[in-house]
Amino acid sequence: MHKPILIIGACGQIGTELTFELRNKYGAENVIASDIREGSNALMQSGPFELLDATNYAAIEDVVMHYEIDEVYLMAAMLSATAEKFPMRAWNLNMNSLFNVLNLAKEKKISKVFWPSSIAVFGPNTPKKDTPQNTIMEPSTVYGISKQSGERWCEYYHKKYGVDVRSVRYPGLISWKTMPGGGTTDYAVEIYHEALNKGTYECFLNGDTELPMMYMDDAIRATIRLMDSPSEKIKVRSSYNLGGMSFTPKDMAKSIEKHIPGFKVSYAPDFRQEIADSWPSSIDDSAAREQWGWEPRFDLDQTTEEMLKNLKE
Ligand SMILES: NC(=O)c1ccc[n+]([C@@H]2O[C@H](COP(=O)([O-])OP(=O)(O)OC[C@H]3O[C@@H](n4cnc5c(N)ncnc54)[C@H](O)[C@@H]3O)[C@@H](O)[C@H]2O)c1
Repeated sequence: MHKPILIIGACGQIGTELTFELRNKYGAENVIASDIREGSNALMQSGPFELLDATNYAAIEDVVMHYEIDEVYLMAAMLSATAEKFPMRAWNLNMNSLFNVLNLAKEKKISKVFWPSSIAVFGPNTPKKDTPQNTIMEPSTVYGISKQSGERWCEYYHKKYGVDVRSVRYPGLISWKTMPGGGTTDYAVEIYHEALNKGTYECFLNGDTELPMMYMDDAIRATIRLMDSPSEKIKVRSSYNLGGMSFTPKDMAKSIEKHIPGFKVSYAPDFRQEIADSWPSSIDDSAAREQWGWEPRFDLDQTTEEMLKNLKE
């Protein structure tokens, strides 16, 4: 039997689906969902839930002790677009929550940590195409700075204290169960909702902005595969590049038009354009492929089919 798992930030876009998948795999009672707010009915009814503030060390420690938690998935964070509006709140949440979990592992109260980084660790001076695992980073957003610092701390805790922390740099994630939480790639979810509801969409990025993206099923599979891999295979203890697909809003519009003829997209770039322009357009994820067998399954057209089918139901 798998030892108990705690998910912090379980009600968000990724946390919700991660909770369902881990409960399928390890049993509902073995996966404790937690968040600072309640989540969807489906999530709340699927197993144990605790209201928990990720910045409160003592509160997390209580839950860890009570349920004899062995692994923590830390999904609570303030995302890129929102963080630009509240820089200090973002820094405090993103860093303090990570320190809390790393310190629990350092004190041997838990034995494994998953913490997600992001393509936002890269910046305007990073090579844009097939961005390598190790390269110039220099992120220019508060969110990216917090993720890059987080990566450095993860590697430090691994090297200095032997903490088994694992991480991937998620690209923009596309899913239908939960709306995205204030990132720069949110357009790639909103567009499907508006295509079905209105037949038109006003995109906040320009039509030629190419970004790395991934369908949620792939992201969840990558996360669980990384966590299941033997420790000696995990050579990167900062965070792994993770690739799925790369496309522009125009590509996405064309893919949707195959199912919804006449679908029209207009473009009105806002402050998020500058963030998107500072990020890679595609990712070299050969380290993840070679070291723990990562392989994406969904391309853009398959993502469109899944999104439209599930949102219609
Ligand atoms: N969604 C993406 O496209 C994407 C891409 C790259 C990286 N990531 C990273 O993955 C992780 C999860 O992202 P997401 O998209 O699910 O975010 P989200 O905003 O949808 O969810 C975050 C959750 O954290 C919760 N939360 C906020 N403050 C909290 C606190 N103090 N204590 C406990 N919970 C708190 C929120 O209520 C929310 O349910 C984050 O670290 C994010 O940076 C996401």
